[in-house]
Amino acid sequence: MEHLKIDISKVTGFVSEDTIRGYEDKVTQSNEALHNKTGKGSDFLGWLDLPSSITSEHLAEIKDTAEKIRSLADYVVVTGIGGSYLGAKAVIDALSNSFDYLQNNRKNPVILYAGQNIGEDYSYELLELLKDKSFAVVVISKSGTTTEPAIAFRLLKQLMEQKYSQDEIKERIVAITDAKKGALRTLADREGYKTFVIPDNVGGRYSVLTPVGLLPISIAGFDIEKLVEGARFMEEETKPGKSFYENPAAVYAATRNALYNDGKAIEILVNYQPKLHYLSEWWKQLYGESEGKENKGIFPASVDFTTDLHSMGQWIQEGVRNIFETVVSIATPNSEVKIPEDPDNLDSLNYLAGKRVDEVNKMAELGTLVAHVDGGVPNIKLEIPSLNEYYLGELLYFFEKACGISGYTLGINPFDQPGVEAYKKNMFALLGKPGFEEETKKIRERLK
Ligand code: PA5
Repeated sequence: MEHLKIDISKVTGFVSEDTIRGYEDKVTQSNEALHNKTGKGSDFLGWLDLPSSITSEHLAEIKDTAEKIRSLADYVVVTGIGGSYLGAKAVIDALSNSFDYLQNNRKNPVILYAGQNIGEDYSYELLELLKDKSFAVVVISKSGTTTEPAIAFRLLKQLMEQKYSQDEIKERIVAITDAKKGALRTLADREGYKTFVIPDNVGGRYSVLTPVGLLPISIAGFDIEKLVEGARFMEEETKPGKSFYENPAAVYAATRNALYNDGKAIEILVNYQPKLHYLSEWWKQLYGESEGKENKGIFPASVDFTTDLHSMGQWIQEGVRNIFETVVSIATPNSEVKIPEDPDNLDSLNYLAGKRVDEVNKMAELGTLVAHVDGGVPNIKLEIPSLNEYYLGELLYFFEKACGISGYTLGINPFDQPGVEAYKKNMFALLGKPGFEEETKKIRERLK
């Protein structure tokens, strides 16, 4: 069976193989520190063995709940922000038919998202849409106190109260939150919602393989057992004890640290499949929130090719040479479309007649790779055989593990996010939240 592969051969013209190998001891120690729980943030390592420790009873409970929600609702609103929605959206988008939401006679509910922004028009339009639809809500907040999802949930709950009885509401809301703490836990216990727990030792951005990701993915109709199975394979592959080149997470962590120390401060995650757009969004949160601290860290950016070759291509080819690319490549697409012959050939495309669209896409990928490397952009290639639950499981765990190793190699704590609080304090002060009176005075001064 084929698995995720990493190819760093188009990096070694920029930093040598010896330089990358020079990180071997460091990444090995970082990997051991993760497993021995001796590094920074070691209280948040619950994600490390999630794939191998998740029980079949737990998966069955998630699937049962998903089945109940699927039988009740045509629309399911996943309400959360950051790590509380990005993993689910990444997987659901990657596996869904691109036009699924437009199909009649759907067998799966439409998955919508709320609480990931505070746009008033978004809120209004969502509520208008749901007014006369059968809907359910999965509300996700580890802290249970995050403002964006709390506002969205209050609005959705109010709409439910106008449409459904208290008993029906209880059937239609699932809360995923802390075991004991937070406003969402208090509310869920009082109202009698079905709940799942986000383990204390798993941070938001590492939570896709907990109910945070698994419940929405299962509601959307995808196989969470296969997802976990793929992740379990990668858990084994990246354990300490494997040699450097056998461990793709170690190779990725070493290569990106070598590039960073050579002045490449920006990593662009590239895909050639529009379904992977949100995989990049998930990856950006994982790496951005994990590594961007103490005035260090690679800036994670992303592009969707070939679409963005027509907007960002020029910059990547010839702009400041402080970037490198990591391409997520899918070896074989799930469907087949061939380019037809045209007798008039007015568009001069007959030289492509009979070829699969993917062959053109792959040549675009190869041509871009050579152009960008020639233009001074190192290229890491990650390839999975196809887009399905199993390989997405491999990919998600690979990125999480490499992020932990990479963060320790960089010398920071990849499991906290102290910088996220700054905007919240100012927002609460400006909104006049009780308890923030001193901050209100200070920020009003700052704004004069
Ligand atoms: O990774 C993180 O910790 C954050 O992105 C959180 O997931 C995000 O801020 C949402 O937090 P919460 O789940 O507590 O509402």
